[in-house]
Amino acid sequence: MTDLVIRPATADDANAMFALINSHVSEGHLLPRELNELARHADRFLVACLPSADPSGGAPMDLVACAELAPLSAQVAEVRSLVVNRDVRGVGLASRMVNEIRSAAKSRGYETLCAFTHDARFFVRQNFSIVPHTWLPEKIATDCLTCPLFRKCEQHAMMLALVDVPRYAAVA
Ligand SMILES: CC(C)(COP(=O)(O)OP(=O)(O)OC[C@H]1O[C@@H](n2cnc3c(N)ncnc32)[C@H](O)[C@@H]1OP(=O)(O)O)[C@@H](O)C(=O)NCCC(=O)NCCS
Repeated sequence: MTDLVIRPATADDANAMFALINSHVSEGHLLPRELNELARHADRFLVACLPSADPSGGAPMDLVACAELAPLSAQVAEVRSLVVNRDVRGVGLASRMVNEIRSAAKSRGYETLCAFTHDARFFVRQNFSIVPHTWLPEKIATDCLTCPLFRKCEQHAMMLALVDVPRYAAVA
C-alpha cells in the first residue's frame, strides 16, 4: 500500500467517516456515530486514504480507515471508532493507525491511552493490557454512568501507558 496516506481528518471527511463507521456497525464491534458529531469533532480523527478505485465517481481518494483520539481527561485519551474497510484488512493498516494515534496522544501530553472492546486480541497485539474498568474512572464518569449497559456491557477495558511511570505502577 505505497499510495496510502494517513492524515488528520477535517470536517470535509465527515460524510466518508460516517459511511465507513456505520457500514461496519453490523459486525458488532463499533458503536454508531452521528454525522454532526463527526463533523464537530473531525479534528480528533485520523483517516487513511487510498487512490480511488473509481475515480469517475469524483473523489480522487477513498477513505479506507479512521480512528478517533477522544479526550477523557487531561491525562487520559481513548481510541474510539477504529475501523478499517473490509477490503484492506490484514495488512497492518489498523496497527499503523494506532501507532499514529499513540504518537499524537503522546505529543498532546496524555499519559494513558485506553480502548474499550469486546474482542481484546487486536489491542493486545498493540501492547495494550486488559485492566479493571475502575482503573479508568474518567471513562466511567464520561460514558458508562449514563449507558444502559453499565455493569453489563461485557467490554474489556484496555490500557497503554504513554509515560515511563504510569498510573497504577507497581510499588515495590
Ligand atoms: C480490528 C480491525 C481494526 C483490524 O484492522 P486490520 O488493519 O486488519 O489490523 P492489522 O492488519 O493492523 O492487524 C494487526 C494485528 O492484529 C491482528 N488482528 C487484527 N484483527 C484481529 C481480530 N479481529 N482478532 C484477532 N486478531 C486480529 C492481526 O492478525 C495482526 O497480528 P500480527 O501483528 O501478529 O500480524 C478491523 O478488523 C476492523 O475494522 N474491525 C471492525 C471494527 C473493530 O473491530 N474495531 C476495533 C474495536 S473498537
